[in-house]
Amino acid sequence: MKNIVILISGGGSNMAAIVKASQRDHWADTLGARVAAVISNKADAAGLEFARSQGIATQVLDHKAYPDRAAFDAALAQCIDVFDTPEHPVLVVLAGFMRILTPGFVNHYAGRLVNIHPSLLPAFAGLNTHQRAIDAGCKVAGATVHLVTPELDHGPILAQAVVPVLPGDTAELLAARVLTQEHLIYPQAVFELLLKA
Ligand code: GRF
Repeated sequence: MKNIVILISGGGSNMAAIVKASQRDHWADTLGARVAAVISNKADAAGLEFARSQGIATQVLDHKAYPDRAAFDAALAQCIDVFDTPEHPVLVVLAGFMRILTPGFVNHYAGRLVNIHPSLLPAFAGLNTHQRAIDAGCKVAGATVHLVTPELDHGPILAQAVVPVLPGDTAELLAARVLTQEHLIYPQAVFELLLKA
């Protein structure tokens, strides 16, 4: 059995989409994989409630309780590695996890750490992607699933989805349109990664 550990900071709608896909498509039988845990750096992340309602182990690790980024990442890796054994290798899925991770952490999970970013990478790495796409006059926007490497939002691309930027779009409207596509491509990309693993 492969253990999927999902890291969130907020709403957790991408996490929920992955959990639902794993249930609907019987990943335990087809892939030998299950969502083993959801970890949040924020105690009030709405997604935690959904995870608990699905019987998934949850944990809160408040980054503010650690002196620096390296200390937080070390504690985070300890939590994750509870689910990482030779019989149960872990896949770490970042789903709206709003923390920059240290190279040490990223390298520890090389090839088994994925992220979704709400832009068509390599365009608009970083924050405020939707407003930046609107301001640049883009006619399309989208989302990218990628392997995580030490350089922020730069790892090998696994999947992308494209949506139109419509006249009069606000960042909120565009974000909502992109998010519907994120919920489709992220579970599919995780499925394909597990299939290859
Ligand atoms: C998503 O747009 C994701 O791409 C970005 O933050 C948002 C998180 O949404 N990194 P959710 O927490 O999955 O609902």
